Amino acid sequence: MTTVSATQAAYVVAALLFILSLAGLSQHRTSRSGVVWGIAGMVVALAATVGLASRSITATSLVLIAVATAVGAGIGLWRARVVEMTGMPELIAIMHSLVGLAAAFVGWNGYLEVDDELSGSLLGIHHAEVFIGVFIGAVTFTGSVVAYLKLSARIDSRPLTLPGKHVLNIGALVAFVALTVAFVASPNMGLLVAVTVIALALGAHLVASIGGGDMPVVVSMLNSYSGWAAAASGFLLANNLLIVTGALVGSSGAYLSYIMCKAMNRSFISVIAGGFGTPAAAAEDGEQGEHREISAEETAELLRDASSVIITPGYGMAVAQAQYPVAELARKLRERGVEVRFGIHPVAGRLPGHMNVLLAEANVPYDIVLEMDEINDDFAATSVVLVIGANDTVNPAATDNPTSPIAGMPVLHVWEAANVVVFKRSMAAGYAGVQNPLFFRENTQMLFGDAKQRVEDILRGLDALDAPVPEMAGSSR
Ligand code: TAP
Repeated sequence: MTTVSATQAAYVVAALLFILSLAGLSQHRTSRSGVVWGIAGMVVALAATVGLASRSITATSLVLIAVATAVGAGIGLWRARVVEMTGMPELIAIMHSLVGLAAAFVGWNGYLEVDDELSGSLLGIHHAEVFIGVFIGAVTFTGSVVAYLKLSARIDSRPLTLPGKHVLNIGALVAFVALTVAFVASPNMGLLVAVTVIALALGAHLVASIGGGDMPVVVSMLNSYSGWAAAASGFLLANNLLIVTGALVGSSGAYLSYIMCKAMNRSFISVIAGGFGTPAAAAEDGEQGEHREISAEETAELLRDASSVIITPGYGMAVAQAQYPVAELARKLRERGVEVRFGIHPVAGRLPGHMNVLLAEANVPYDIVLEMDEINDDFAATSVVLVIGANDTVNPAATDNPTSPIAGMPVLHVWEAANVVVFKRSMAAGYAGVQNPLFFRENTQMLFGDAKQRVEDILRGLDALDAPVPEMAGSSR
């Protein structure tokens, strides 16, 4: 077998491993094996690509590839080890920016070094690939950098509203199409510079116009763009595996964006266009009334007497790293015969699956972790709901108040339970910046403080309730 056909065979194996990886990652139970398939696919892909390249490059280039791989792998390992779960969206955004930048460079390289054997319509296709690759890569690059800056709070997360912003976006797309036609007819550097500048500006503007509430969709959308950027590079480099992998990432990212739009009841087009057709944000809700507080000891008593408990975790559980005591609390209550389940909102936390990952980390059994749609009808028959560091995802204003900025977003109907205990540190609003009327309902009590400490206090409270009451001196006589 020649090196080329061995490489192509290895690419097919790697592509199959990537498909197995995606299939594995789609369920909690199989997610670890999904990661292993992905790593195996990447090792096969890298080995085959370097093996193919080694036929035509010098020893110095091979050493350079080895050094670049070692440095890249080192940085990747280091970042993956130190990143907090809450910092994952930023990390993902900045990684997407690198994919975009690489695609733009590959495109420029394709323009500067044209294969002499290309002519006629094949040359035209090559120039179209260069142009499209540079465009998608540059949009992904600046879009991801702005998303990173917004997610890490380095710039304001409010949407940028330039006058005529939709005209600007559509104008940039029309200019791209016109320039592509001109470039294929007569390729020159001026046109490529023009499309690069337009794409860089479009990527930055598209993401800058999107408000903080839509950032989950933006992250997965940029994931999709980075896949298409990689696929465009695959065409230019005539690398089948890059085309297949790019298409897998591009389509799975697009599908994830669609699922998240559905979960937040937002139209895909309105998110990409930066709030097109969305109602204006309502002014902050007026007077809400009084809230009631509860202590950890009282919460322990409430739980002791409960027959069913639903725990709805949110971003605050991740910040407090409360998943371990929360898992312990669930275990203790189940031992006492209480029915305990977790209700997970699709955009709870700061990245898709955030809560599922944390609960899996703390060994919460998968069968008691239910999605919003699976559990929403059960709140009415539940004795106690523990809202642990969640806010927007349990906000009744989304269903009750059509002028609320989160109106129409499906939420967990926690307020239907007999008792709701909300764990948070203050009366501050959640990610969307909207006050939560749940906190002022009659069946809601606030348990203030760090979620981890409060759950640990409840565990101690439950132990104290279980402890035998010491006999009074002399009572045994
Ligand atoms: P949020 O609405 O973000 O609210 C989290 C709450 O946790 C805050 O109100 C905060 O109140 C509390 N908190 C923070 N640290 C805490 C601690 N140490 N102990 C106890 N409480 C603490 O949470 P959510 O319900 O999970 O909603 C997620 C939001 O993020 C949605 O708006 C969603 O659209 C957005 N978002 C989601 C994603 C994805 S993909 N999941 C990505 C980006 C954005 P205090 O400050 O008073 O403690």
